[in-house]
Amino acid sequence: MKVVVIQGPNLNMLGVREQNIYGPMKLEQIHAQMKEFATQNNIEIEFFQSNLEGEIVDKVQECYGDADGIIINAAAYTHTSIAIRDAISAVSLPAIEVHISNIHRREEFRKENMIAPVCTSSVVGFGPFGYHLAMVGMLQIMSEMQAAKEMQKQQQEPAAK
Ligand code: DQA
Repeated sequence: MKVVVIQGPNLNMLGVREQNIYGPMKLEQIHAQMKEFATQNNIEIEFFQSNLEGEIVDKVQECYGDADGIIINAAAYTHTSIAIRDAISAVSLPAIEVHISNIHRREEFRKENMIAPVCTSSVVGFGPFGYHLAMVGMLQIMSEMQAAKEMQKQQQEPAAK
């Protein structure tokens, strides 16, 4: 199983930017923890960060046929990007969106969310720990999908004589 983690604009500044909101952890530290969890659970993991909307769209598209699931924090593009939303919708992979802060408790403009409606689920307001929760959630989604596939296969197979 392969998971691609996509990080949007300014998340490369974690550990520096607004520590009162996002905490002191750097993106590399978050990714190191995710990598450790992935290794322990036999998951291939790839990390990508960009400040550019089009690059994020390209990365989501690249996941088609290459990844089994996407974990995405589209950061500020969450609130504006129909292009990223359409890309997630187009690849039709399980996608979990993460927000370090609780976007529902912040400025009004952060309540607008283009991404959530095309994601399987959202993890919001747990700080960097949200990325770990997203990994656990992804494992659960994958095992449910696998179980559903096996069930379907069994139903299609002719009954044993
Ligand atoms: C964020 C929330 C967004 O509103 C903001 O623009 C970010 C980070 C979060 O993780 O809490 O850059 O996605």
